[in-house]
Amino acid sequence: MRTVQVPLGKRSYRILIGGGLLARLGTECKKLSLGAGCAVITDRNVGPRFAKVALASLKAAGFDPVLITVPAGETAKSLKTVQSCYDQLATHRLERKSFIVALGGGVVGDLAGFVAATYLRGVAFVQVPTTLLSQVDSSVGGKVGVNLKAGKNLVGAFHQPRLVLCDLDTLRSLPERELRAGLAEVIKYGIIYDARMFAWLEKQLPALLARDAKALAAAVARSCEIKADVVGQDETETGLRAILNFGHTIGHAIEAISGYGEYLHGEAISIGQIAAAKLSTAQLGLPERDSAGIAALFTAAGLPTRIKLSPVQRKKLFAAMQLDKKVSGGEITFVLAKKLGEVIWNQKVPQTEIERVLID
Ligand code: GLY
Repeated sequence: MRTVQVPLGKRSYRILIGGGLLARLGTECKKLSLGAGCAVITDRNVGPRFAKVALASLKAAGFDPVLITVPAGETAKSLKTVQSCYDQLATHRLERKSFIVALGGGVVGDLAGFVAATYLRGVAFVQVPTTLLSQVDSSVGGKVGVNLKAGKNLVGAFHQPRLVLCDLDTLRSLPERELRAGLAEVIKYGIIYDARMFAWLEKQLPALLARDAKALAAAVARSCEIKADVVGQDETETGLRAILNFGHTIGHAIEAISGYGEYLHGEAISIGQIAAAKLSTAQLGLPERDSAGIAALFTAAGLPTRIKLSPVQRKKLFAAMQLDKKVSGGEITFVLAKKLGEVIWNQKVPQTEIERVLID
């Protein structure tokens, strides 16, 4: 098992990465001095696969867990589902010392984390991410929230988990498409922070796609180390943390205009990162061979690299970008790469340039 520490003073926590960890959930929670009452929030896809082991482990450690199952998919990340969770927590009399376990992918983690941040003005929570994307990104760093019709993650909070438990065995049954989508975030870390990791990914991609346990453990651990380092320096995104949004300005807008569901998050940010790499070449002089290498790695990972848009859709895409939280003073800003492993944030890019790279 590997351990990564998220250094946040009193709110510091560990990320545990390895096989067979789900069965240790109770033992690990026991170390956190939490109350006996807890709720495991999961969805209809993940629950039937993993809830039994999670509940048994919690019970064996002396906890009294209740299971809350929400619908699967991005549309469940709504205030309506939040309300239903609150009602169930109240019915089961969860108290201030009780805690919530988020068992599932990014949707469940963001939703359950938001419920934990707000129920009784905040209760503890533990992340048990079961997808590659949530293990390397959304379960770490405390961003929790839900979507509005107007945009993704527009209601939320910073609420750090007390523990993140990444059981790599859960990735074995992950649908192929979701594995590839998770790789989009893994590749992102190479681009924004670690050129050596990018080169390692170019070599190890076949092993990762074949779910080689050693390669996956290394990719998840390095991704979590980078995220922990960034979040440790800038928990609430006053600056540096924005680099984690590389490719997300266009990516989030693609998700918004396609109604959350057509593109997985990882697929949308794959298109977004390739566009951001092209913008980086035009605006900051990122060598052509690096932006071509970025596009080649996403292509090799089987991720979408471009989106065809009608004039009407293009207009909608720009309107969605304007609504994104990353807009500052009405201007759309981007994270752009100076070179592989080094990016800068808050870069204003003319709309004509954005249109050019999207058509390119
Ligand atoms: N996923 C971006 C962040 O956690 O800041």
